Amino acid sequence: MAMDSLITSLVLVVVLLTTTTLPFSSSSLPFIVLHGIGDQCSNGGVSQFTELLSNWSGSQGYCIEIGSGTWDSWFKPLTEQAEIVCDKVKEMKELSEGFNIVGLSQGNLIGRAVVEYCDGVPPVKNMISLGGPHAGEASVPLCGSGIFCIIADNLIKSEIYSKYVQAHLAPSGYVKIPTDISAYLSGCKFLPKLNNELPDERNATYKDRFTSLQNLVLIMFEHDTVLIPKETAWFGYYPDGAFEPVLPPQQVWPLV
Ligand SMILES: *[C@@H]1O[C@H](CO)[C@@H](O)[C@H](O)[C@H]1NC(C)=O
Ligand SMILES: *[C@@H]1O[C@H](CO)[C@@H](O)[C@H](O)[C@H]1NC(C)=O
Repeated sequence: MAMDSLITSLVLVVVLLTTTTLPFSSSSLPFIVLHGIGDQCSNGGVSQFTELLSNWSGSQGYCIEIGSGTWDSWFKPLTEQAEIVCDKVKEMKELSEGFNIVGLSQGNLIGRAVVEYCDGVPPVKNMISLGGPHAGEASVPLCGSGIFCIIADNLIKSEIYSKYVQAHLAPSGYVKIPTDISAYLSGCKFLPKLNNELPDERNATYKDRFTSLQNLVLIMFEHDTVLIPKETAWFGYYPDGAFEPVLPPQQVWPLV
């Protein structure tokens, strides 16, 4: 994600954090930041982002790290990443009265897993999502459209739902190839569960918890070239079987 668009939306996030915590203004609610792929809490961008948000909103913010950071953000399966965050936030006394989540790209999916199925977590009041691949990602993240990318993309796509790739490449947990939906549903280990897409394994609790957020703010970057389609940040996605058109969330997502 480009840093300039990040800063632009920072202002928006601060306004939202400030207003959404108004009901708790006597003791403003803390927030956690979940960073994106290839990033880590100790990196300047993320730590400044967290600190600026804290400074401007007057709420305490905590960037939650998963394992070693950058490496694990790429190579640890998202189910495990979400379990780590779930355990960490339950142990943080600072969050015991409830908290807000600010997610950056891939971090949003971890955030939603915390909301939907981290049993025993303190109440998550609000979630602010910056460029989250909520409905899936039809390309390999961060690659772009160069020739090497296209080759790498196709290689990965052909094996993306294999057990090996699912266990070793985090984004494989949310790559959803519209023309390969049955392989996605049977092989993809993370997103189908998160989005309640598996008919036999739907769990109404996920929906109840997610819809009981006081506010959900979904920010899409108009010039996003990482998220394919960019509307996935709003839960929009392609129909099963084709790469067009982009359907609105109501037609895509069984969770809501
Ligand atoms: C946040 O506020 C502190 C204390 O005023 C200041 O030292 C720090 O530089 C600020 N951080 C950012 C990122 O602006
Ligand atoms: C549904 O998910 C919740 C949250 O993780 C869990 O406590 C519950 O046991 C699940 N129900 C079923 C039937 O699996």
